[in-house]
Order: sequence, then structure tokens, then C-alpha cells
Amino acid sequence: MQTFVTREEIFIWREQQQAEQKQIGFVPTMGALHQGHLSLVEQACQENDVVVVSIFVNPKQFNQSADLQAYPRMLSADLALLEHLPNLVIFAPNESEMYPADLPFEPMPLGKIGQLLEGAHRPGHFEGVVHVVHHLFALVQPHTAYFGQKDFQQLAIIRLLNQYYGFGIDIIGCETIRESDGLAMSSRNLRLTHEQRQSAVSISKALALVKNNIGQDPIENVKQAARNIIEQAGLEIDYLEIVDPITLENCTEWQQIQVCCVAAFCGEVRLIDNVLCESVL
Ligand code: PAF
Repeated sequence: MQTFVTREEIFIWREQQQAEQKQIGFVPTMGALHQGHLSLVEQACQENDVVVVSIFVNPKQFNQSADLQAYPRMLSADLALLEHLPNLVIFAPNESEMYPADLPFEPMPLGKIGQLLEGAHRPGHFEGVVHVVHHLFALVQPHTAYFGQKDFQQLAIIRLLNQYYGFGIDIIGCETIRESDGLAMSSRNLRLTHEQRQSAVSISKALALVKNNIGQDPIENVKQAARNIIEQAGLEIDYLEIVDPITLENCTEWQQIQVCCVAAFCGEVRLIDNVLCESVL
């Protein structure tokens, strides 16, 4: 497994793969890898000739410096986790390699979808995600790129980015991987104390309640019942909404497909999750 740290190294490698007509898969990450990332990388390895995994904690997408400071960094452990996978290349640049001062970037208008949910609660977050993913896509020029559905809104924005800048990449959304009790895997889970870890499971319990009650009680009552589960476990909800899966706008009535998205603080740690719910109307 090769590890590149400069743009030039990955550029030369990529030109060679293109000359050999290799299909390139790409999994962008911020490191602190867990089983959720591994499943993306494994899928990418099965579906492509070669795969790039980027590991870069992107400062531009953190709207609070304390959150950026606290984000786990464990490059050696990450590399050890990936070592066994075939045809893998790691790109782990530092900030000046990722954002050279002379590299042009034309921001994309995020539109309404960027102002809802995470966009409303983390100003500048998606602008930062778009910036880094734009640079990574332009450098790696993959045929396919893999993203977790846990970041449902991010995935929708990446699809827009792909169209807006005309990258023509096949964007693959992959199922959320969960712990055995239902908690969605996240690098942030590492920061939970034992007690907080027990309480955090209330998020997936609340989502299960929504999924089991779609189309039955009025939507507001179901949302309230879900919020109660999370709050009774001692978490502080940032938002819990049932939204249209395309526009991400609030649903006031049940529709055929909707997604319940939640963000909540478990102590200092902000966790997000979602569940896609289909009703038989
Ligand atoms: O989902 C993430 O880990 C990050 O937002 C991403 C896509 C790697 C961009 O920094």
C-alpha cells in the first residue's frame, strides 16, 4: 500500500493509472477509520481496479475550533486498518498541500438544500465540504466515489457538486453501518464516555420509533415521541425533522418516502443519524 502526501505524487500516480486505463475508485475520509469506512473501502476495492482513500481532517468544514481540535487523529492506526486491502493508495496531505494558495476555486451556490438541517446549525460547514471535495475530485479524477448515507445531506450536496462542476463521477451512497445496539458508527463515538455511549443509543431508538410509526399517528406526534426518547436519555437535540429525501424540506404530512434526520449533543459530542422511511399509503 502506497501512501502519498503531496499533490504531485498523487497526480503522477493518477496519470499512470489513466494511461493504463484503470478504473479508479475513491473514498474521501477524515481518518479515525471504523467499520463504516472499511465497508466503503471494501466495496470500492471490489468495484474498481485501484482505490484512493484520502485522510484529511478538513479545517474548513468545522464551524467550531474546539470541535476541530477534538477531532480524533490516528494516522498510523488508520493505515494499519487498511494495510490488508489490495490495490489501495492513501492520500494524506497536510493543509498547505490540500489548499495551495494559488489553487483556484469557484464556490458553488448551495441553494436551499444547503441552508436546511446541518446547513442551518453549522454555518459554513457545507461550503467547507464542497471546497475540499472539489479539490480532491479534481486531483484524483476517480470514476466512482463512495459516501456513507449517515451524512444524508452531505451525500445530496456531493451529488449536486458533481453535476455543478461537471466531474461526471459515479457517486455511490452506501448504507449506514451500525454497532450491534443500533448506534451509527462515527469517528466521534470515540469521544463518548462509557455513560454517554449508553445514552447515545437513544438516537437510533428514536429513529426506529419513527420508522415503526410512519403513516399511523400524525407526523408531529411521532416527531415529539422520538424527541422524548432522546431527551429522556439526557441528550440535547439540535434538530429532529422528518423531511423530503430530495428537497430536505420538512414534511407536514406523511408521504410515500421521507427521511427522519437528527442531530443531538451527547455531552460535548455532536452526533447525527437518519432513517429513510417508506410508507404504504
Ligand atoms: O464525510 C466526511 O468524512 C467528510 O465530510 C469528507 C467527505 C471526507 C470531506 O472532508
